[in-house]
Amino acid sequence: MSTFWSIWIIVFTAITIVGCTWLLFANRKVEVSDDLKEGEAQKTGHVYDGIEEYDNPLPAWWFKMFLGTVVFGVIYLVLYPGLGNFGGVLGWTQVGQWEEEVAEAEAKYAPLYEQYSGTPVEELIANPEAMKMSRRLFNNNCAVCHGSDGRGSYGFPNLADNDWLYGGSAEDIKTTLVNGRQGAMPALGGALGEKGVDNVAEYVFKISGREHDAAKAEAGGQLFATYCAACHGPDGTGNKMLGAPNLTDGIWLYGGSPTLVRHSIRNGRNGNMPAQGDKLKAEKIHLLTAYVYSLSKNQ
Ligand code: HEC
Ligand code: HEC
Repeated sequence: MSTFWSIWIIVFTAITIVGCTWLLFANRKVEVSDDLKEGEAQKTGHVYDGIEEYDNPLPAWWFKMFLGTVVFGVIYLVLYPGLGNFGGVLGWTQVGQWEEEVAEAEAKYAPLYEQYSGTPVEELIANPEAMKMSRRLFNNNCAVCHGSDGRGSYGFPNLADNDWLYGGSAEDIKTTLVNGRQGAMPALGGALGEKGVDNVAEYVFKISGREHDAAKAEAGGQLFATYCAACHGPDGTGNKMLGAPNLTDGIWLYGGSPTLVRHSIRNGRNGNMPAQGDKLKAEKIHLLTAYVYSLSKNQ
C-alpha cells in the first residue's frame, strides 16, 4: 500500500475511535433542568401519541461494554495488522500463520505418509485409514475433472470401471499421474472426406456391435485398415501405449451417438490429463494411485 493510503487509513481509524469515545462520554451525563419537580424524570420533550421520551444517561453496563470494545480495538490495532502499513508489534501475518499450520500438518502426517509410501498399492487399498486420506487427496486434486465419485463425464474418463485408455495396473496409473497424458486423435475429416467419415463411422458401429449400414461399413472397413488401425489396432480394440480407446466395447469417452462419433473422426480429439509429478509429492501420488486402483477393484 502506498504511504498516502496507509496514512489515510490510520488517520480515519484514529478519528473514528476518538469520535466514538467522545460521543460516549458526551452522552454520559444529563443536565438536569432547574424547574424539574421532585420525583419527576428528565424528558427530551419528544412526544409521540402521548408517549414521552425520558432523557436518561446510558445504562452503566452498556457504557462499560462500549468502552470495553474501544479498549479492545486499540489493543488489537497495536498488536495486529490493521492500521495501514503498520504490521502490529506481534509481527503476526496471515501467510505466517498459514505456513505454521502447513509445517505442523506436515510434521504430523510425515510418518504416516512415509509408512504408506513404503506399502505396495495392492496392499494399501485394504487399509481404511490410508484410503480415507487418499480420498481427501482425490477430492482436492482430481474431482474437478473426474467427478467426486471418479466416474468422469464427457471427455473425462471414468476411473471407476475396468476400461482403461492407458492401462489400469498400479504402475500404469502412477505413470499417468506423474507424467500426465496427452490424447492425440488426429482430425481425419480432410483426408477422408465427408463420405469417408460417414463410412468409417458405420464401420466403427459395426465393430462395436451396433446397428449399422452394411454397405457403408463395408467401404469403411477399407478406410479403417488404412487410416485407423495403426492406432486403434486392426480389430479396433485400441492401444494403451497411445491411449487410443477400444472402439468395440461400447464405452465412449466423447459420446457414442452417430453425430459425436463422426465429430471425433472428422475433427480429432485431444484430451489432456495434466501431469501431477511437479505439483504433488511422491507420497501423495502413491496414495492417489492406490485410490484410483481401488475404484475399479471395488467394482
Ligand atoms: C484438468 C482436468 C483433470 C484433472 C485435474 C485430472 N485429470 Fe485425470 N484425466 C483428465 C483427462 C482429460 C484424461 C484423459 C486424457 C486423454 O483423453 O488421453 C485423464 C486421464 C486420467 C487417467 C487415465 C485413465 C485411463 O483410462 O487410462 C487417470 C488414471 C487419471 N486421469 C487420474 C487422475 C487423478 C488421480 C487426478 C488427480 C491427481 C487427475 N486425474 C486429475 C483430466 C484431468
Ligand atoms: C494417431 C493415432 C490415431 C489415429 C490414426 C486414429 N485415432 Fe482415433 N483416437 C486416438 C486417440 C489417442 C484417441 C483418444 C483421444 C483422447 O483421449 O482425447 C482417439 C479417439 C477416437 C474416438 C473417440 C472414442 C471415444 O471413446 O469417444 C473415435 C470414435 C476414434 N478415435 C475413431 C477413429 C477412427 C475411425 C480413425 C480412423 C479414421 C481414428 N480414430 C484414427 C488415436 C488415433
